Amino acid sequence: MQLRNVELGDVDAYVRMRCDPVMMADLGGPLPRAGMEDKVRRDVHRVAADLDWIKMVVPDPAAPEVVAGTVTLWSHESDDGPMSEIGWMVLPEHQGRGLAKLAVRTLLEQARDEGRWGLVHAFPATGNGASNGICRSLGFRFVAGREVTFADRVLSANHWAIDPSTALI
Ligand SMILES: CC(C)(COP(=O)(O)OP(=O)(O)OC[C@H]1O[C@@H](n2cnc3c(N)ncnc32)[C@H](O)[C@@H]1OP(=O)(O)O)[C@@H](O)C(=O)NCCC(=O)NCCS
Repeated sequence: MQLRNVELGDVDAYVRMRCDPVMMADLGGPLPRAGMEDKVRRDVHRVAADLDWIKMVVPDPAAPEVVAGTVTLWSHESDDGPMSEIGWMVLPEHQGRGLAKLAVRTLLEQARDEGRWGLVHAFPATGNGASNGICRSLGFRFVAGREVTFADRVLSANHWAIDPSTALI
């Protein structure tokens, strides 16, 4: 498995992840197809400016054209000041092989090694067994259940947090 930065050519992977009702079932439903070129362009720009880490998951470096999913680490304002957050997705045909967990661990190892991002938070949907399992088994601490807003929708989620420099398993 390899993580690489998002590129302008990743529109198709974004559409398959973000505009698909099954992929987005826990994230408030599919997003409109029309906004995806803009979203990829904005994400490529934010990576180039070193604001966010937005990685595509490539299962086999010998077949770099195959993208299985994405893992992203970014910072945003919260009621308690700036907050680092990580999120992830793996396409159905690549699920169940440990790819999401490996991708999340790999990005948190990079955060630890570069001493960046501080405490990292995650907000998987309450009913998302796999994503809550990833948090639990990588050493995240359960904080609380809470409502979160994703793409202007309010969702019921679990709040987890990890300090990658001390707690990553
Ligand atoms: C959630 C998702 C990322 C999981 O991807 P994946 O590559 O299949 O996950 P993994 O294979 O790495 O499995 C992660 C862990 O969850 C466990 N798991 C898988 N499905 C599970 C389920 N339904 N209930 C509980 N645990 C589950 C796995 O056994 C594994 O734990 P282990 O390593 O301790 O055995 C993927 O299904 C997805 O992208 N779904 C749609 C989008 C989404 O919901 N994203 C997350 C938003 S927070």
